[in-house]
Amino acid sequence: MKTRYVYIETFGCQMNVHDSEQMAALLEKEGYLLTQDSAAADLILLNTCSIRDKAEQKAFSELGRLVKLKEKNPGLLVGFGGCLAQHLKEGVYKREKAVDFVFGTHHICRLPEILTAVTTGKKRAVETCFFSEIQSLGVFAPPAPGALSAFVSIMQGCDNYCSYCVVPYLRGPEMSRPPEEILAEIRRLACCGVKEVTLLGQNVNSYGKNLAAGCNFVSLIKAIQDVEGIERIRFTTSHPKDLSDDLIDCFGSLSKLCGHIHLPVQSGSNRILGRMNRGYTVEEYGAKVARLRAVCPSISITSDIIVGFPGETAKDYQETIDMMEKIRFDSLFSFKYSERKGTAARTFKDPVPEAEKRRRLKELQALQDGHTQEKNWALEGSVQEVLVEGPSKNSDLEMTGRTRSWKIVNFKGGRELVGKKVNVLITRGFLHSLRGRMTER
Ligand code: 5AD
Ligand code: SF4
Repeated sequence: MKTRYVYIETFGCQMNVHDSEQMAALLEKEGYLLTQDSAAADLILLNTCSIRDKAEQKAFSELGRLVKLKEKNPGLLVGFGGCLAQHLKEGVYKREKAVDFVFGTHHICRLPEILTAVTTGKKRAVETCFFSEIQSLGVFAPPAPGALSAFVSIMQGCDNYCSYCVVPYLRGPEMSRPPEEILAEIRRLACCGVKEVTLLGQNVNSYGKNLAAGCNFVSLIKAIQDVEGIERIRFTTSHPKDLSDDLIDCFGSLSKLCGHIHLPVQSGSNRILGRMNRGYTVEEYGAKVARLRAVCPSISITSDIIVGFPGETAKDYQETIDMMEKIRFDSLFSFKYSERKGTAARTFKDPVPEAEKRRRLKELQALQDGHTQEKNWALEGSVQEVLVEGPSKNSDLEMTGRTRSWKIVNFKGGRELVGKKVNVLITRGFLHSLRGRMTER
């Protein structure tokens, strides 16, 4: 049988990157090989993101480019998936006629079925309903050869309805995977050489809500701590309102849980946090950060902030700046508010002018750069445990890896170190990375 190739283009977050890995694993079982060359593909899948307008625009411009390949290769199939597909449904065909099928966020595991329907019936499919139970992929998605890290999805959807966010509408209600399934997957990953797992969910802190009593996020990570071969555990994303004291304590007691937490704050103004429906105050957020730092002094704390939310006054914005000065994040993802269809915030008055949003974002990012640089300088002279990933981007004589706190470290060393944990004395802290030398200590 002729080899068939699939090209998958991913937009957006880690969740989407992982969904694409799952698509590749499923299609491999159907006889497809993954290719990085879109011109060589028999099947092209776009795994789109809809979180902000910019992500949508990117997906459409890429779709425009890819469908041109159809003129040269009429047999080429194009599938449009992910959050934007979930949002637009059959509307995708109005924007781009060359699409062959549209599959929503609950339909990844149905890809083989959808492909058969499209190729045999020659009809255009639109599969975007939500299922009331979490859909099991049915196949094990193996890590890339030599990969030390892997993502593991522990839940899907979100019940939080932050007023600016489309995720609950596009990924459906929150549903957790059974712990036995997650643990079985992690054991298999460990057998394939994976040493670090990152547990994925929109709000991992509420893991287990729909499962048996006693099954929660803390019990899950404690069980993962016992998996032989796994040396590091990470997770993302945490919602501050659901970050329990029990979980905070794990940073002091679980040796494999890495000292890094991504804890999106979104704003430093209590008025705006209320309008965002976040369920906590700046003071409560600050108290959780203080507890995290008390339990694990070396923990790195990263966050997300939205500027220019409707009604954000100069005073609200200043409160965000003041909060950043107080908390001092290790790094930050910051965004201009982007109006999303169907969300509550879309009906809110007093939009912030685009130019002002831009100005606030630029100023806030410059402030954060200063804090990030400061945090990295502070690590000079310290010894960090680094899991060695491979040669650094700039030199074959240098290795690169990450600290437990998720910072990139480059240091002199050979390939025999790949996959090992080594101690590195930090000699320089830059804005985006650290430099050091291996040490026995
Ligand atoms: N506009 C801007 N940023 C948004 N985010 C989510 N929705 C929006 C929106 N409508 C940001 C939040 C979230 C991150 C993943 O994306 O900061 O934490
Ligand atoms: Fe969106 Fe809020 Fe859910 Fe995060 S917690 S996915 S910001 S609704």
